[in-house]
Amino acid sequence: MRPYHIDDVLITPRQLERRLDSLAREMAAGAHSDNLVVIGILRGSFIFMADLVRWFWLNDLHPRIDFMIMASYGSGTTAAREPTVSRDCSIDLTGADVVVVDDILDTGRTLIKAVAHLAAKGPRSIRTCALLDKPARRAVPCEADFRGFEIENVFVVGYGLDYDGRHRELPHIAKVTFTDEDPAR
Ligand code: IMP
Ligand code: MG
Repeated sequence: MRPYHIDDVLITPRQLERRLDSLAREMAAGAHSDNLVVIGILRGSFIFMADLVRWFWLNDLHPRIDFMIMASYGSGTTAAREPTVSRDCSIDLTGADVVVVDDILDTGRTLIKAVAHLAAKGPRSIRTCALLDKPARRAVPCEADFRGFEIENVFVVGYGLDYDGRHRELPHIAKVTFTDEDPAR
């Protein structure tokens, strides 16, 4: 693996907390649903989901919660193949108002695939939510209905996001700098 460091904090825990608060308010501002289902895409969304749904509670949103696993990245920072559903959600989505939650919207392929997959289960509506958005990287047309932060075209880790399986536990979002291409090091 290439040498790298994660010294640069892009988004602090405090910034994450404040944004999740406002994001949950945005989501609650729409029509309240008595059949709200929030589906997190694993593994990257696990921390974001856990924090977001606690803000839901404060905004009187009471979802059922499920997860699905989408696999696309083999390892490292490049997409290995088209995303596939490797573990489906198990809640009955008939008539449900679904919110799909992912960690980051990059090429858009994962979210497009997840939405198409879930749409076939007969929900009343599907909305999408991504903590981070890298619009410069988009390969297919895809916008999230709700997004936390727009970021530059950099690889990031922390708060659930990994580089080769690592650094998910960071309480902040950090930038991955590859030191073999960074003249300052
Ligand atoms: P997409 O299908 O290209 O939009 O990629 C979405 C998935 O790629 C995310 O759910 C992440 O798992 C992964 N990914 C994309 N960019 C990053 C990044 O900067 N850091 C960590 N994972 C990323
Ligand atoms: Mg990942």
